[in-house]
Amino acid sequence: MCGISGIVSSENIAKDLFSSIRNLEYRGYDSCGLAVYAEGKIQLRKNTGEVDEVNKKERLTQLVGNLGIAHTRWATHGGVTKENSHPHFSANMEFAIVHNGIFSNYQKLKSELSAEGFEFRSMTDSEVFAHLVERAYAQSPNVENAFVSSLLQVEGAFATAMISIHEPDLLFCAKNVSPLMLGLGESRNFIGSDINAFLEFTKTAVTLDDGEYAIVGKQDYRIKDVATKEEKEKNVFTIHWDVESTKKGGYSHYMLKEIFDQPFTTKQALKIEKEEIEKMAKMIQQSQLCYLVGVGTTFYVSMVGQYFFAQFAKRHLPAVSSDEFKDIAILSDKNMMLTVSQSGETYDTKMAINFAKSFQSKTGAIVNVMGSAISMMVDNVIMQGSGAEICVVSTKAAFSQMMILLRIVLEVARLDNHLSEDQYKEYYTALEDFPDVIETALNEQSGFIRNMADTSVKIHNWLFLGCGVYFPVAMESALKMKEVTYLHAEGMATGFLKHGTLAMIDESLYSLFFVPPPDQIDLHERTLIAIEEIKARGGKVYGFIFEGDEKSEQLLDHLIRLPKVHFLVAPFLEMIMAQLFAYYSALKLNRNIDKPRNLAKSVTVA
Ligand code: F6R
Repeated sequence: MCGISGIVSSENIAKDLFSSIRNLEYRGYDSCGLAVYAEGKIQLRKNTGEVDEVNKKERLTQLVGNLGIAHTRWATHGGVTKENSHPHFSANMEFAIVHNGIFSNYQKLKSELSAEGFEFRSMTDSEVFAHLVERAYAQSPNVENAFVSSLLQVEGAFATAMISIHEPDLLFCAKNVSPLMLGLGESRNFIGSDINAFLEFTKTAVTLDDGEYAIVGKQDYRIKDVATKEEKEKNVFTIHWDVESTKKGGYSHYMLKEIFDQPFTTKQALKIEKEEIEKMAKMIQQSQLCYLVGVGTTFYVSMVGQYFFAQFAKRHLPAVSSDEFKDIAILSDKNMMLTVSQSGETYDTKMAINFAKSFQSKTGAIVNVMGSAISMMVDNVIMQGSGAEICVVSTKAAFSQMMILLRIVLEVARLDNHLSEDQYKEYYTALEDFPDVIETALNEQSGFIRNMADTSVKIHNWLFLGCGVYFPVAMESALKMKEVTYLHAEGMATGFLKHGTLAMIDESLYSLFFVPPPDQIDLHERTLIAIEEIKARGGKVYGFIFEGDEKSEQLLDHLIRLPKVHFLVAPFLEMIMAQLFAYYSALKLNRNIDKPRNLAKSVTVA
């Protein structure tokens, strides 16, 4: 779970190379480094800390040269030390490599190389690769051959890139499972773990597939098969993301910017061609059973989908967490899975897709990152077009996924004749009006939510409660709270309380309720019962409510009153308010909001 980048150019590259790992920092941020070639030597600078800190210490941007690789790390094998940061040199310092993922057989290779006299400078699995290349080159002095023969010796999920003094105009890179892409510029080319590595320099890209390697010069590139060395024809595609969408745009954090992006990203989700939505809907309709699969936030997105499929399309689509999928799914060629993934690179989700494919089940996905592995693995993909999401925690991407799922649900419901044309139109109107509703609510409510956050950061234990579709919304909101504040927040269905959790309630326990509009009579009543159960035991109750909900107003100790909205979008408006609540709580607590401790944006390892 690291970020890799590389540039080969006719000009000095250090500043751009530094900028590229800065843009990948959300993939890992405990240490970083650059290796740049000039005048027969590779200069390598690296250290621990965030990218800007390391630049201050090591003056990364002052390196001189036209060819280089860079890395930002999230430690897996070997602690956070200068020695363990990347790039790594071979013993003779003629090769430098960066690596993302795991070389699962590194221990065996390390013992072998150590016995032959190679001295290791780090505790990483990555360093073996540099020594393997040196050893292979000593036997037959051809860099490409040495690179490929080393690739054939390593196992696991990885992406790697290399420069060598013996090929001063070429970048070498390869991947298996972990992501890697090429960016094609004018008189310069790029490699990167994802498009953020080079989006500010070019919007033309090529994705590397598993078992492929690339040799990249400043004017051209070749992609070959590791096993056969045969050259491959690859699709070149244009990235439709706006560079501005990757910048903070005046907000103090990416999280806040991305929360405020949601009116726009909702519009983008609604702009996805009806044919694409219909195609996915028909796939689902034709399957005997379709699983909705994601992990972390995207599992909660899938749960929202499950509720909506039951409610509107009268179909049961079980939501399953990717990591549990193989333990629970019953698969056949008549079944399908629809996965949801922002990065399109999540290991657990990729494994779940592979598992489904091994039963010839059909696969679909909703993905944000173009050219990502999941977008290429599945039979049918919907690109959500939410733009780059930089904050480690997902807000706008997850939100769009819910909107897209809702569109698919409405389509299946219509095809199955569970929705009249009038209802269908009414629901679409509610969705089309929603971006303006979000915009207004964000502007009107931010101050109140900030105030609620400022006065409640002393609370270290929260229950976030909802029923029906408000249950997964509460779960997702609790996850946001945990991630950015490091406080305990447990998402729960209101009905769970009396089956155990009530034992915990006293005046020190606070709960946040996601209260449905009063015209959702059953859900509203169930929520009120739960509020009363907690109040009766001295617990404090906060809540998001809608205008006209006098009963809740009387019961709640602290409330955020939202304007009346269509019941279809009501849970999502409350979810956005909960994102703001998590953000402002973390701000008050002075947390590292965009890069919470111990987390990385793309979880590409097991
Ligand atoms: C939480 C969060 C994670 C991701 C999960 C799946 O804010 O972002 O829980 O949702 O790691 O990632 P993707 O969506 O990239 O597959």
